[in-house]
Formats: sequence, structure tokens, C-alpha cells
Amino acid sequence: MRRETLAFVLLLTVNTQAARPFRGGAVATAHPRATEAALAMLNRGGGATDAAVAAALVLGVAAPYHSGLGGGGFALVHEARSGITEVIDFREVAPKAATRDMYLREGKVAPGLSTDGALSVAVPGAARGYLELLGRKGRLKPAVVMAPAIQAARKGFWVTPKYRTIAQNRLDCLRADPEASRLFLRPGAQGVMEAPAVGELITQPELARTLEELSRRGPSAFYEGRVASAIESTVKEGGGILTSEDLASYRVRWRQPLEGSYRGHRVATMPPPSAGGLAVVQVLGVLERAGARGPSSREPAVLHTYVEAVRRAYVDRARYLGDPAFVEIPLPKLHSAEHISQMLASIDPSRATPSQKLLPAPLAADAGYTPWTDVLPGAKAERKNTTHVSVIDREGNAVALTTTVNYWFGSCLVARGTGVLLNDEMDDFAAAPMTPNTYGLVTGEANAIAPGKIPLSSMSPTLVFRKDDPKKAMLALGSPGGSTIPTTVIQVISNVLDGQMDVVRAVGAGRIHHQYLPDAILVDKFGLEPATLRALEALGHAVTRTDGWGDAEAVLIDPATGLATAGSDPRNEGFASGQD
Ligand code: GLY
Repeated sequence: MRRETLAFVLLLTVNTQAARPFRGGAVATAHPRATEAALAMLNRGGGATDAAVAAALVLGVAAPYHSGLGGGGFALVHEARSGITEVIDFREVAPKAATRDMYLREGKVAPGLSTDGALSVAVPGAARGYLELLGRKGRLKPAVVMAPAIQAARKGFWVTPKYRTIAQNRLDCLRADPEASRLFLRPGAQGVMEAPAVGELITQPELARTLEELSRRGPSAFYEGRVASAIESTVKEGGGILTSEDLASYRVRWRQPLEGSYRGHRVATMPPPSAGGLAVVQVLGVLERAGARGPSSREPAVLHTYVEAVRRAYVDRARYLGDPAFVEIPLPKLHSAEHISQMLASIDPSRATPSQKLLPAPLAADAGYTPWTDVLPGAKAERKNTTHVSVIDREGNAVALTTTVNYWFGSCLVARGTGVLLNDEMDDFAAAPMTPNTYGLVTGEANAIAPGKIPLSSMSPTLVFRKDDPKKAMLALGSPGGSTIPTTVIQVISNVLDGQMDVVRAVGAGRIHHQYLPDAILVDKFGLEPATLRALEALGHAVTRTDGWGDAEAVLIDPATGLATAGSDPRNEGFASGQD
């Protein structure tokens, strides 16, 4: 039997029920095809990195509204043999011609300029990131790892209910670009382009060619020559500023993880230019000092502490965080035991602290800023853009990889003839300091736009290690959801370590979120009992209920048995499985 066929048969013979324990590796992603690709790599002798990259590439094809070669991301990579954990930052950077005020018109942020079309595009990092990951940490050849994505692009994937909903939400933006329309929409009545029906096949032959060239020739197939020229001319035609010189000079960054601990477990997460990792470490630190119960307990007093800790973490974010190559971030202080103890000490157990008291922002009074009303329609109910892959292989190597084109379908611009959908990551900068972006999030001066600068991110790929052996990964996790990512990660960790939930329950449990501004708790529809909600309101919290957000993807190793389980957020269309 051919090896490919054998791998496929093996895939079909494993039980795919997520809660089932596996003796080998396990994978959780936002799309069944991506999880299957990752398992195929593990079954071919690849490790966690090969599996994670194969999955990420397939996600970029089959869920193009979240991620793809035109985007960027972060990954934590843990090597079981050496016990070393490293971070790769393949986030987009601002083009060289970017300027601080590029999204202002007559002194005000012009709606849509940083989210739709050519001016919103930052220099993509995913192609270089994936190849660098494979080169440094992979075992299989790029052609093998990229084969499932090439095949998915060539043969196509069918439109799911989620795809259709998202395409409907981004209809105007997609219609504005003929190439994006042709690829991701379908002619409706009178030939007007519409969101395709569920079940329609989307093929991307141009993207298959780009991926195939990348697998053969390496990063130069994307950052130079045909693809780079197409990106430059498409962006230029649309009035954007990204050039082929920006592309040719793009490099990834390897970093040390940000370290924290919770209930005696080492936690490794994403340092700046993510603001998410710091929030994860700070809030877990406050919760640990506050007592033995975590937010998974749903006790109003604990939830109050949790919300107040999150509020303070996001104030630090707004005040200090940006690209560490451009701004002096007092990082050691911000995650020191002293600072975390001060955060706890500043919480009034009997009253919510108004956010404006912690860091006054001009917007609340004069910019028509309404709690949880986002700039773009549809964003309010669905903070799910971006995507995450978690893998732990049978040797204990672990990868947590979060990747994005930012908002749904990124900029909605496809580089002509390449199939590459370009990001709108420029929206993660502060277009004007302390003015909300598409996530309603405010960031400060430290996140102002500058050429070559990385926009601040919330992406928080995270690894939690065994209590008895801090070099052995026990939990790999992450989620999409823009500004809600860190609180999703914190709650899944609490669900596992405090709540003793299995991984499927841990990713599925209701969630609550705060982010300093808007000054309101966001509760998903399964988040809280009415009595708990009222108890929080009695403490002075404003509470807004909404549909679920995020898409947590996690793999958990049981320290007692060494068996792996994987959970894909039941709010979405993902899939978790493993190998025996
Ligand atoms: N683009 C979403 C984030 O990086 O947080």
C-alpha cells in the first residue's frame, strides 16, 4: 500500500470523538480538513511543527476569512528532548511608507480605511513564518507538509454555514475587489455577486500554484518575483502603499516566551508585540494570589476579582504596549510579583472600579463611543476572526500557533493572479491613540503607526506545563477573537486547572470578558446564571449579553496516564482528534 493511502486509512480508523483519549499525538483546529492534514503529518513521522504548519496552511485555504499566506501570526514551539520553548513571531509589519496619521481625514479616523482595501494592508509574514518553522523545527520536507493545502486549493472545499455568514457580513468589502468577488462570491440574481450557498465548491487554482512554487523555491517565491510584483501592483492600484521592497525585506523574529505560573504550573505565552500574553500572566497571577477558586467556579466574588484584574491588565496594555523594537516596555516590572500584588491590592472587593478612573480616555465623552458597538457591522456578535492550531505529538513536542489576516477576509483584496488574500492588520495599530479599532479596543501612544513597526496583537498562543516537571508540556491552547483572545485563554486554563474539566468542556464552557473599554462585562449566552449576573450588577458592573465569541482549540495531556485528549470549541466548525 502507498504511504499516502496508508496514512489516510489510519486516519479513518482512529476514533474521532474529541473527548476520547489517544496514546499518540493529538490536534485541535478550526476546520476538519486542517486537523486531518495535521494527523496525516504525524502519521508520516512528522512532529508537532510539521503537523501545525500543515494545518495552518490548510486553514488558510479552507477558511480564508481567518488566515492565509497574506497574513501573519505567532507560534510557541516546545521541544520535548531539550525542554526548550521558543517563540516565532511572523506578524505583519507596517510598510516603509506608513505614517502615524495615515488613517486620519480632517483630524478624525476615517471609517473603513484601516480595515477595507489597499491602505489597510501590512507586509504579510505567514509564508516566511511557515517555511522558517519547518526549516528550524520540522522533520518533513516543505513539499510534503504543503501538499494537503495545495490539494485543498486545487480540488476545492465546500462552503459551510460559517463561511456563508461571514461572506454575507463582508459582502460590500468583497464586492469592491473583482478578484476577491470572483474567488469568494458567486453570481446571484441579475449577476450581482452574493455570498455562495452552503455546499458550493470553492476552488483556488491560483493559490494552489503559489503554494506549489513556495514549496519548491522557498520564501523567494512569495517575497520576490511574480507574487511580490502582483501584491505590489494590486495594492498600488487600490491606492495603498505596500511595495516589493517592503516584501523583500520582511524577516521573522525568534523570541523568548513570556513566563508565568498558575497553581504551581509553568505557563509560557506570547511576549510583545502581543499584548495578550502579558494579560494572561497578570490575570492568572492575580487570581492565584486572590485564593484557591478560579473563574471556572462562577462564584460572583471570584468573577469580580477576575474582571477587575482583566480591566487592570488592559489598562497596562493601553498605557505601555507596542512593538518592543520601537517602544520601551517595562516588561519585567509589568509581570513582576510586586506589580501583580499591587493589581490585586487595588481591587475593591465590594465595588467595580470605573475604567475611566484607572486611565481616563477622551473617547468616552466626546467620540460617540457606545459600549460594544463595533465599527463594522456584524462584529458585535462574532469575535471569531483569526484562527488557532494546537498540537502535542507522541514525544511531547508541542506547538500553539495563532494566525490571522485580521478582520474577516482581511482587506478583501486579492493580489491578481496569485490567490493571495491580503490582510488588514494595519487596523491593529492605534489609528489615533485611545480611539477604538474594529474590536472596540483602545490602545495608546506606544501602538501608534510607524514604518516597519509591528501592530500590537491580542493573539496569545499558550503552553502550560506539568506541575511535577516544568519541561513537559501538558496543555497547548489558543483562540481567535481579537481583543477577547486573552480572556478566552485564561478561562480555558482555569477550567482545566481549577475546574478539573475535561478539555472538551474546558473549551466549551461559557465565557465572560472585559477589556477596560468599553466599560462593561461581555457575557456569552451560556456564560452566567441570572443570579450570578445580578450579583455582578449589584457590585456596580454593567453587563452586556451577546452570542458566543472565540474558537478555543486545545490539546491536553493527562499527567497521570500520558494520554492525550483534544477539544475544539463547540461554538464553531472545528475538529479535534488524535492518533494511537
Ligand atoms: N488581528 C487580531 C490580533 O492580532 O489580535
